[in-house]
Amino acid sequence: MACPPSWLLLISLACTLLISCSGAANKDRKEYIVYMGDLPKGQVSASSLQANILQEVTGSSGSEYLLHSYKRSFNGFVARLTEEESKELSSMDGVVSVFPNGKKKLLTTRSWDFIGFPLEANKTTTESDIIVGMLDTGIWPESASFSDEGFGPPPSKWKGTCQTSSNFTCNNKIIGAKYYRSDGFIPSVDFASPRDTEGHGTHTASTAAGNVVSGASLLGLGAGTARGGTPSARIAAYKICWADGCYDADILAAFDDAIADGVDIISLSVGGSFPLDYFEDPIAIGAFHSMKNGILTSNAGGNSGPDPASITNFSPWSLSVAASVIDRKFLTALHLGNNLTYEGELSLNTFEMNDMVPLIYGGDAPNTSAGSDAYYSRYCLEGSLNESLVTGKIVLCDGLGDGVGAMSAGAAGTVMPNHGYTDLSFAFPLPTSCLDSNYTSDVHEYINSTSTPTANIQKTTEAKNELAPFVVWFSSRGPNPITRDILSPDIAAPGVNILAAWTEASSLTGVPGDTRVVPYNIISGTSMACPHASGAAAYVKSFHPTWSPAAIKSALMTTASRLSVETNTDLEFAYGAGQLNPLLAANPGLVYDAGEADYIKFLCGQGYNTTKLHLVTGENITCSAATNGTVWDLNYPSFAVSTDNGAGVTRTFTRTVTNIGSPVSTYKANVAGPPELSIQVEPSVLSFKSLGETQTFTVTVGVAALSSPVISGSLVWDDGVYRVRSPIVAYVYDLKH
Ligand SMILES: *[C@@H]1O[C@H](CO)[C@@H](O)[C@H](O)[C@H]1NC(C)=O
Ligand SMILES: *[C@@H]1O[C@H](CO)[C@@H](O)[C@H](O)[C@H]1NC(C)=O
Ligand SMILES: *[C@@H]1O[C@H](CO)[C@@H](O)[C@H](O)[C@H]1NC(C)=O
Ligand SMILES: *[C@@H]1O[C@H](CO)[C@@H](O)[C@H](O)[C@H]1NC(C)=O
Ligand SMILES: *[C@@H]1O[C@H](CO)[C@@H](O)[C@H](O)[C@H]1NC(C)=O
Ligand SMILES: *[C@@H]1O[C@H](CO)[C@@H](O)[C@H](O)[C@H]1NC(C)=O
Ligand SMILES: *[C@@H]1O[C@H](CO)[C@@H](O)[C@H](O)[C@H]1NC(C)=O
Ligand SMILES: *[C@@H]1O[C@H](CO)[C@@H](O)[C@H](O)[C@H]1NC(C)=O
Ligand SMILES: *[C@@H]1O[C@H](CO)[C@@H](O)[C@H](O)[C@H]1NC(C)=O
Repeated sequence: MACPPSWLLLISLACTLLISCSGAANKDRKEYIVYMGDLPKGQVSASSLQANILQEVTGSSGSEYLLHSYKRSFNGFVARLTEEESKELSSMDGVVSVFPNGKKKLLTTRSWDFIGFPLEANKTTTESDIIVGMLDTGIWPESASFSDEGFGPPPSKWKGTCQTSSNFTCNNKIIGAKYYRSDGFIPSVDFASPRDTEGHGTHTASTAAGNVVSGASLLGLGAGTARGGTPSARIAAYKICWADGCYDADILAAFDDAIADGVDIISLSVGGSFPLDYFEDPIAIGAFHSMKNGILTSNAGGNSGPDPASITNFSPWSLSVAASVIDRKFLTALHLGNNLTYEGELSLNTFEMNDMVPLIYGGDAPNTSAGSDAYYSRYCLEGSLNESLVTGKIVLCDGLGDGVGAMSAGAAGTVMPNHGYTDLSFAFPLPTSCLDSNYTSDVHEYINSTSTPTANIQKTTEAKNELAPFVVWFSSRGPNPITRDILSPDIAAPGVNILAAWTEASSLTGVPGDTRVVPYNIISGTSMACPHASGAAAYVKSFHPTWSPAAIKSALMTTASRLSVETNTDLEFAYGAGQLNPLLAANPGLVYDAGEADYIKFLCGQGYNTTKLHLVTGENITCSAATNGTVWDLNYPSFAVSTDNGAGVTRTFTRTVTNIGSPVSTYKANVAGPPELSIQVEPSVLSFKSLGETQTFTVTVGVAALSSPVISGSLVWDDGVYRVRSPIVAYVYDLKH
């Protein structure tokens, strides 16, 4: 199951269409992002600096090549450049990095109850001052999840705007909205508006901060109360993703605005396909400047699991979220004319099929005029089936597809093997049941056994997933591919079969002929896990408005519950600190805080030189030789020890915790782990006399030669009231990589 079929990515992540959009006029020019770090200090304007260096390399005024300028929260621009110009720019003073304008993809609700965060959870009256910035496909403003009934005017700190049009207006719930497209190209199926035609952005926004809406369901499935983590918070929607993907230039432009607009939390469920250097990754760059401005960025970890190091968002100044399965699964029964019934998982069938209808095998119904023979038609590929043979029948297919082949040939339904892709479910354009392949061969045998095979696909029903919670197979795994001694992902949150608001601009599946337009939909992905963490972060922030991004992240991580090692064999590389627990996170006892200076020390350790760091931070930096390579001393709420090819190693970590629990308290260190891991904490007792007091300690982790790829233990600071837990992971780093 290393790589999901492409249609699965298409459905759960969307946006894989490729549309060429480069202007014909500048064929040898491509879009590049020139990142110049922090805003210039004093009288110098970012625009004039940008104009100067663009002029210098292009030889002309340069303005004809400039597509967008970043100047509200950090410095940089997007321009059409030749490869030579891009190289010249990257070695110029004042430039941190130059990289092509690449493309990223998009990576109920029972889910909150399942993680122990009930509707009745304590709220602060200031929750309505919290603004969650959603960088996504836009938003569907008419959704009940975004009604502003009962909301007052936006908080006074809000400095953003609403890009209104005849078709789009904001309200006191959606207080800001804007769309970004640096090349000006609007795909024909999309709106030049913050309006969401895809559904993804509406779904994530309602999960993070949507209103409480009772009686929500996907045509009866997943029925219950839909709500966000902070239902009273405000939403600012930044549309950066279009039908053809999410461009780096637009991601950065949205960060530039969101930071300056005054959002409290940024939620970004988008990722690339391979790891990038921190300052060549627009998401890491944007998250760095948001951290610098006191805003935590919550990121989807990626949907490329379960391969090791498949995680795509892992910068230590942001939160990297894995997707876990909640205890609800969806089953779709196939009833055969021989009275046998098979339960399938993977499809959400909202259709009612009252009668038994004829059943046919795709391999027995080729469209011969298309040159198709049974070899293609058994997979039910589009155009491969004989319409007159399959119309009105249920077609059995040998391959797992999107159902469009059977649908376009007029089939009444389709049965496909699920190839072991279970644990998640989504809608197909026609009645569909996806069975274990043992069962699809039973169905084939039944077809062979009678001259009049018949079947019926029943409406999907809900069942309990007894193994939950566990991290779903597609959720990207650690270790961190750039910094091997920082643990990634950070945390797990529900990301499978999540019911949340949807766009009404497109049908449920977007397939022609599907007429179902739904206000709520059930989808899966780390894209859905991320806004659960964003909503929880907003919840914590509503109680502690002055906390730093690192403190909020620490609160979420140290209160998370570790998941079962039986159902999560990749251990912390699957779930990080564990499953999100918003209630506990609002009151964590101690936090591992960190600020810009700590990240700079980390970046020195990572090998960035002072010239670059000076640009990024706007501060005078000295990387002391002593910090060289000591990335693990970042004040992180988790611990990772990589061992070269599994050889033994001893590592000492220095950490500082800040008391935000009880003023006078004494915490004892409890460590646990397998015999291969020795963990010593010095001192092992921390006494505090006041709130805000800090204490420093060291954790020395000794690892014998490792026999398994990853082992883990933990450190818990316990004062009898609060339990502040950090995972400790030791793993085999393969030097061949
Ligand atoms: C809710 O808040 C009140 C007052 O701050 C506190 O006494 C109570 O313990 C809280 N309840 C929960 C469940 O956190
Ligand atoms: C306005 O939105 C509706 C969907 O609500 C859409 O059908 C229509 O085409 C949009 N009009 C424009 C001008 O974008
Ligand atoms: C299937 O069950 C129904 C009702 O129980 C019965 O009438 C019918 O004869 C059965 N058919 C077969 C093929 O066993
Ligand atoms: C479809 O099947 C019918 C019946 O077997 C056959 O007569 C017809 O030629 C087939 N058409 C195509 C396009 O394959
Ligand atoms: C069969 O193939 C022909 C030729 O490619 C095509 O025109 C026709 O639409 C196909 N029929 C079906 C049912 O896909
Ligand atoms: C399917 O068949 C394989 C091998 O024949 C067996 O190992 C597996 O358990 C079967 N699965 C189910 C769901 O019966
Ligand atoms: C069904 O019949 C076909 C042709 O007679 C045969 O090739 C195939 O193996 C049979 N399949 C099963 C599952 O019995
Ligand atoms: C930093 O690296 C750049 C090239 O990557 C180089 O031009 C510069 O001189 C370096 N600065 C220091 C202080 O080493
Ligand atoms: C950085 O150092 C320069 C030269 O030593 C000094 O003029 C400047 O004020 C310093 N800037 C900051 C932000 O400390």
